[in-house]
Amino acid sequence: MKNVLSCIQPTGDLHIGNYFGAVQNWVNLQDTYKCTYGVVDYHSMTMPYDPALLRENTWKMVFYLLSCGIKRENLFIQGLVPEHVELCWILSCVTSYGELQRMTQFKEKTQQLQEKDKDAFVSAGLFAYPVLQAADILIYRADYVPVGKDQEQHLELSRNIAQRFNHQFGKEYFIHPEPLFTETPKILSPADPNKKMSKSLGEKHYINLFSEEDRIRKQIKSAVTDTGEAVEGEMSPGVKNLFEIIRACGNMAAYDSLMADYTSGALRYSALKEATADALVALIHPFRERLNELNANKTAIQAEIRESSAVIRQRAQETLREVREIVGLC
Ligand code: AMP
Ligand code: TRP
Repeated sequence: MKNVLSCIQPTGDLHIGNYFGAVQNWVNLQDTYKCTYGVVDYHSMTMPYDPALLRENTWKMVFYLLSCGIKRENLFIQGLVPEHVELCWILSCVTSYGELQRMTQFKEKTQQLQEKDKDAFVSAGLFAYPVLQAADILIYRADYVPVGKDQEQHLELSRNIAQRFNHQFGKEYFIHPEPLFTETPKILSPADPNKKMSKSLGEKHYINLFSEEDRIRKQIKSAVTDTGEAVEGEMSPGVKNLFEIIRACGNMAAYDSLMADYTSGALRYSALKEATADALVALIHPFRERLNELNANKTAIQAEIRESSAVIRQRAQETLREVREIVGLC
């Protein structure tokens, strides 16, 4: 069975864009591949952060992923597998300064920090971030890495690092990981459907996957449908986004019937919004129930995830034993 690996940063909330764009796909891949999924807390240390909040958000993300259907035995917390950092150091010695300088995410995040404060502290950790990501991938000998297009450059770097390591040490040791770009919907902000749904835009701009029903209904009700720049004969991005959400929820009957209304010119936005909210509420309801169950057994679940991380760590340790041998450590 081929190995799949992917990771997510513990950002606090999981929004429906993350779910439809990534997590739902991760859940489905578990039927076909040997999957390993990480909550990458080391990565979240590369931008300014609060230690207590990092720990809280790491567990929060673990519980969210479990509620969505990620299997416990496939899930680990990166900070519980310190071999990632050791491999990162070793790989950083076969990565050039120049190739890290070309990473667009590094440039964007640096700019983000400097927009807030022109003398902002930009850490070496942020610079080395893609090497840590390569370590995440190579340590488990991943064949496929499901990621969004924004991660394409990091994936390519991971392949280059693997290749350079193999070349430098004269051994075909690391396999070359391939990105897995599954067709997933891109969800837009309900408050500004010209932008991608994202936490960094602010609270109005994302729908938390674990929101109360009322809040979801309110957010959908106030979703922008016409942006004032309507193109004749084209569906506006806000309306398209609501249709996308209904489809992503798998509510094809509602989708087809509302689409027929749209085509005949009889679509009422209020009906579209109600159907969108209904579809989301129905999708999310079992996730919320599972989250409540997991939270009721919080300590036991945390112990299970420590255990699954320990089992996954053995694979990382095996890789490190071989790598240490290859690179000449005692
Ligand atoms: P982020 O924390 O924003 O990097 O997102 C984590 C994952 O969710 C990435 O794999 C993204 O591709 C995916 N994702 C984030 N926002 C959206 C969105 N608005 N629509 C679809 N997928 C998204
Ligand atoms: N950089 C990825 C993101 O921002 C998260 C990530 C870290 C990752 N390590 C990874 C993704 C390894 C895939 C594989 O979304």
